[in-house]
Amino acid sequence: MIDFLNKRLSILKVNKIYLKLVKIYFNIFGEKNLGNIGFDFSNKPSRIEILNKIIKTQKYSKYLEIGTFKDELFTNIICENKIGVDPFSGGTHRMTSDTFFQINKEKFDCIFIDGLHHYSQVSKDIHNAIQILNDNGVILIHDCLPNNLIDQLVPRITLNWNGDVWKAFVECRTKSNLDCFTCNADWGIGVIFKRKNSNLLKLKEKNFKKLKYSFFFHNYKKLMNIIEFEDLLRKF
Ligand SMILES: C[S@@+](CC[C@H](N)C(=O)[O-])C[C@H]1O[C@@H](n2cnc3c(N)ncnc32)[C@H](O)[C@@H]1O
Repeated sequence: MIDFLNKRLSILKVNKIYLKLVKIYFNIFGEKNLGNIGFDFSNKPSRIEILNKIIKTQKYSKYLEIGTFKDELFTNIICENKIGVDPFSGGTHRMTSDTFFQINKEKFDCIFIDGLHHYSQVSKDIHNAIQILNDNGVILIHDCLPNNLIDQLVPRITLNWNGDVWKAFVECRTKSNLDCFTCNADWGIGVIFKRKNSNLLKLKEKNFKKLKYSFFFHNYKKLMNIIEFEDLLRKF
């Protein structure tokens, strides 16, 4: 029954009329579209290069990927032990991240979060990942730098979609026990170390889900603590 409903929903989502209606809805009730920020990742390293370099230089042996899709990343990761979690495709464990974190008893050196791109789910995934991260390990979060309002809309209306992952990353930037950077590559890769925050973000708003894209548009440098990959490697 759930499979059937999911299929019907997918058909609806790609339906042009549905997309038009959603766009009209957001034009009337949503935020004003401010255009593109202009992130350009074309000459930056890919997530495959980034992860393999980190795993190799840090001699990591345990890798976990949340959201594997077609295994584009998962199969290219060079690591002794790999676990990939996805309710629909790829990886090694066919289940949601919530279920995996409930049953899992292992710890990991490197955790890549790329599952459901909704603030609440990413925030939960980060919280659960921190509990099972080895002390010298790292958490990476995909899709942290949305180029425009449409790319971050929830529910999704575009093919290339960041969702509002950035809000969960901003939440981490306000924690004194997490050191966070965003690598300027591959749609923005959030990087979290379990140690004292070296550049604490102070925000009045504590309801991160409520943050507006216009706030991101005007403040993304300060919010995201953006860093180039070569400089990030020196943070380990
Ligand atoms: C953007 S794709 C992952 C791409 C992959 N990490 C890569 O780099 O090639 C997102 C995936 O997350 C999965 N997903 C959706 N909800 C999830 C959940 N609650 N837990 C784990 N994975 C989820 C989807 O099925 C989809 O395959």
